[in-house]
Amino acid sequence: MRKKIIAGNWKMNKNLEDGLALVSEASNMIKDEYNGNAIVVFIPPYIHLNAVSKMLAAYPNQFTGAQNCSNHESGAYTGEISASMIGSCGANYVIIGHSERRQYFNEHNQWLAQKIDTCLKNKLLPIYCCGETLEERETEKHFHVIASQIKEGLFHLNASEILNITVAYEPVWAIGTGKTASTDQAQEIHAFIRGLIASNYSPEIADQITIQYGGSVKPENAAELFAAPDIDGALIGGAALQSRSFTDIVKAMTL
Ligand code: 13P
Repeated sequence: MRKKIIAGNWKMNKNLEDGLALVSEASNMIKDEYNGNAIVVFIPPYIHLNAVSKMLAAYPNQFTGAQNCSNHESGAYTGEISASMIGSCGANYVIIGHSERRQYFNEHNQWLAQKIDTCLKNKLLPIYCCGETLEERETEKHFHVIASQIKEGLFHLNASEILNITVAYEPVWAIGTGKTASTDQAQEIHAFIRGLIASNYSPEIADQITIQYGGSVKPENAAELFAAPDIDGALIGGAALQSRSFTDIVKAMTL
């Protein structure tokens, strides 16, 4: 059975003290209240990674991740953070290609492919984001946009490398808007993404890839989304900023 992963992307929220309080509360609630098999990933701002990783060391199914990394290995890139630095702070996962990075920082698929490579070289597990804007959906370009994001970001990888990737489908129109994709809409795209991977690699490989849904996931809609056959978890923004709502979403993954 493929891994189920529930990840909380804090974006640019929480100072260190508040962030550590959140992790302390949520990690204990999850330990005490959750008996499923999902992996839980806390994705705070970079500068909290080391402290959060130390706090989670005692929790076997809870990990940390970074929100981005440089496409360069090291060198004169002021303000950038490398994959190797992220790993040295105890993180295991890295979000690559979040729509906010694509939209506000002009990150494009070719760069993202380089970022994926530097993560894998440094033994980090990428969570690769894809998803269409509202305009792209309304003009029925969404399948095409998602196919390009997946092919250009990932399909240079060989069969053993692709197995380290988690894909997150995050329709831009559902992020932070309170408007969730319906379970049918999300399932349709997840099955499409799995089909792309199956035709480029193999159905067996595609079957092992975790595909998360992201975009206004809340305790109220999580169970229904998780019941869909190709939805293997969630990448959560707003609802990950409170221990109760984050824990309740984790608990909705009953497998
Ligand atoms: P929201 O859950 O706030 O819609 O954010 C989703 C997201 O962008 C997670 O990466």
